[in-house]
Amino acid sequence: MNVVPVNEAVSTETADDSRIDGNLTQLEYLALNSDFNLSDGHARQELTPGQGKMVGELPRLWAEAVVRPVEEIERESHRAFFHLLGQHSYPGADGRVLACYSSSVAMEIFARALVTEADAIALVHPTFDNIPDILRGVGLRLVPLEEDVLHGGDVPAELLGSVGAIFVTTPNNPTGRVLSRERLVRLAEQCAEHGVVLALDTCFRGFDEAGQYDHYEVLEASGCRWVVIEDTGKLWPTLELKIGWLVRSANVGLPLAKVYSDILLGVSPLVMLMVKRLSEDAADGGLRDLHEFIATNRALVRANLHDVPGLTFVDPDSRVSVERIHLGDRSAMDVWAALREHNVYLLPCGRFHWADPSEGDRMLRIALSRSPASVDVATRALRSVLMGD
Ligand SMILES: Cc1ncc(COP(=O)(O)O)c(C=O)c1O
Repeated sequence: MNVVPVNEAVSTETADDSRIDGNLTQLEYLALNSDFNLSDGHARQELTPGQGKMVGELPRLWAEAVVRPVEEIERESHRAFFHLLGQHSYPGADGRVLACYSSSVAMEIFARALVTEADAIALVHPTFDNIPDILRGVGLRLVPLEEDVLHGGDVPAELLGSVGAIFVTTPNNPTGRVLSRERLVRLAEQCAEHGVVLALDTCFRGFDEAGQYDHYEVLEASGCRWVVIEDTGKLWPTLELKIGWLVRSANVGLPLAKVYSDILLGVSPLVMLMVKRLSEDAADGGLRDLHEFIATNRALVRANLHDVPGLTFVDPDSRVSVERIHLGDRSAMDVWAALREHNVYLLPCGRFHWADPSEGDRMLRIALSRSPASVDVATRALRSVLMGD
């Protein structure tokens, strides 16, 4: 069997019967034009009536964005979003919240700032592979921090002594695991003791109330050096109009603002007003409806696949907008390729296991922020492939 580099596969569109060797985003590109794209974790479901109303108001929001001071709009936007998600102690008043075009841009800024003082970082394993790719891209050495170790108790002192920062995705993508308040308290204490920067990616916190306790209260009380990356991009179907917020402690000591200024001037005030309006709608019941929507799609996936021999649902308690399945002894790439014949796209999990891709070789991830009809068709197709129909 040929192994085709994914860029070639994308450009030639001739790789239907071949294995694709690419990172997760490259695999996600292949799905972008399919009606049954359950590959990337971006929100692609229909707008709710409340969100549709905001879209109808865009000309008014545009006019408002033109005339009002950006700083004022920005403050209102992050206030609405952070309070929606329980982050009442976030440092919004003193310029410690930087708005970026996306969370990956925030991540790049963090990585470039960190590498000015550190050569190694501990990173949760598994997690979405653009995080290790960005960190490696600036020359940092990565040390895996297994989820079970992270959630099980204190992080080994030896590990803390060998790195300049610890990076945790919570809730994690793809596992949905959330760092409890109790664990965050202790991790922040340990980071303070060792002078290690604690970095959190909370892009998926909107989906799980367990991730909505006030993280900033804990971080500020700990005295550790910290950075948090927040994201509006996974929650609402806004056609890639989103904000990644890079938030920092007063004592972080990294040149984040300088690197930010090397890259961008700021995010569109129109997008900030959209985020403010969407946050208000979410606070007014939209977030509860979103949780129900995701739970319904998850239940649909499980109902369509529950009796497939050898298949298991890996994350029974997950609330995030993706669902992992274990395929027993089948290869995820084989099943991915067979589904592609039906124009259905899921995501093989190998690359999430950035330190040992073989651990994910028999798992697929299904995106749930999709219309129930496409979740239904895609998982029925998966069922037929797995049953050999
Ligand atoms: C946990 C996590 N952080 C960051 C990102 C990057 O998001 P974006 O592509 O919007 O920059 C992703 C993408 O899916 C993600 O899963």
